[in-house]
Amino acid sequence: MNLDSLKAEYAKHNPKSKAAFEAAKKYLPGGITANVKFFDPFPLFMKGGHGAWLVDEDGHEYVDYVLSYGPLILGHGRKEVLDAMHSFLEEHGAMLYGTPHVGEADFAKTIQKYYPSIEELRYTNSGTEATLLTIRTAAAYTGKYKIAKFEGHYHGGYNDVLISVHPDVAKAGDIKHPIGLPESKGISPEEMENTIILPFNDLDACAEILTQRKDEISGVIMEPMLGGTIPATKAFMQGIRKLTQELGILMIMDEVKTGFRITMGGAQGYYQVKPDLTALGKVIGAGMPVGIMGGRRDILEMAAPQGSDILDSGNHSTNAADILYHSGTYNGHPMILHAGLTTIQVLEKEFDGMIERTERLKKGIRDIYAKNGYHVLTPGIGSMFNIVVTDKEEILTYRDLAGADSEMRKKVDYALLTEGVYNKPGNRYNMCTAHTDDIIDFTLDAYEKAFAKL
Ligand SMILES: Cc1ncc(COP(=O)(O)O)c(C=O)c1O
Repeated sequence: MNLDSLKAEYAKHNPKSKAAFEAAKKYLPGGITANVKFFDPFPLFMKGGHGAWLVDEDGHEYVDYVLSYGPLILGHGRKEVLDAMHSFLEEHGAMLYGTPHVGEADFAKTIQKYYPSIEELRYTNSGTEATLLTIRTAAAYTGKYKIAKFEGHYHGGYNDVLISVHPDVAKAGDIKHPIGLPESKGISPEEMENTIILPFNDLDACAEILTQRKDEISGVIMEPMLGGTIPATKAFMQGIRKLTQELGILMIMDEVKTGFRITMGGAQGYYQVKPDLTALGKVIGAGMPVGIMGGRRDILEMAAPQGSDILDSGNHSTNAADILYHSGTYNGHPMILHAGLTTIQVLEKEFDGMIERTERLKKGIRDIYAKNGYHVLTPGIGSMFNIVVTDKEEILTYRDLAGADSEMRKKVDYALLTEGVYNKPGNRYNMCTAHTDDIIDFTLDAYEKAFAKL
């Protein structure tokens, strides 16, 4: 079957999602509220979940490998997390205090246990906000105003980093000197100039660019694993750490995807590298919105207020420009931190088993592709991986990925959608502790059926 007939079969199988999509288009541009959630001809509309399963509007059940793009590491509706939320509300009687509370330092202590580079931290409401704050912090600390990011890396939805996330390779220039390309309308030429694009896993090329522009660049922000699944080589990671130290540039590790997924200590635990600043999100919120910006104490201390605040009406004598501004109505949300802490406590006991089952699933998928005549790689460490149909033996960069057979991958994914396995076609796999051996057997069986159909 070709991709178009698979999509037609998918559409026929999901009439209620189709109708919901048509209705949503009247109110929401494109019928959705996050562009990543769309896929052709319409995305599935889900109405519930339990464990590793999601249920759509047509009543189909799916093994969920998106897990809301990563956060749900214990699966849907894990009892300990729901209980923690209910009992928190019963005991404390309030959603939000608008004051400091002891849960903020308690949670920070657990984060620091696993991420020793995070000597101090601030809470935000999303990964986007966390990385945004790292960028302002790097500028505040170094007095420099440009940022360097890697081709193919995603850090959230704002102008400084919506550049060269998924560029057209034909327009992106030389592999060693990538040209920045905008990923959205509305990014100004000045913003394009302020973000310098680096080639991932090419230390010599990075050294050349960073050395040349060291007086302009405040920080290098990176996904330690491109897209969560293509690891930096150990030599590259150590090289970037050394280089940034030598050049007076801060190293910012964006662990929004990799935090508590690669190892409990994220990618920095895996590489044993200490960045200056780290962004966390996703897993730490138990499915609710949260983020963390943390790092070296001497850097974070710039955010400590000294006397009054910029929102202190009537007081015009603040020294605001000497302080790193950070605030937010929902920062350190008491119930979310409590649910997040519960998630980490459960995960501590179940992490290793989840990783073993992840490896089993990866091997099973590789074997089925191979049996059907396709060479695939399943890059990824820990509880996330991708499936790349390629002739190559190793994928190191965005350009390696861009050269893969994405059409074949999508065909399999569409065929799986009618066999009870949910992934947005082409997306990485996120695993959870609720993916049991039985569920992995179910998934591999669905793969066999999908290939038989193709
Ligand atoms: C590496 C990385 N950084 C930042 C973000 C943005 O996080 P959020 O979607 O919570 O704003 C994401 C989201 O996918 C991410 O994967």
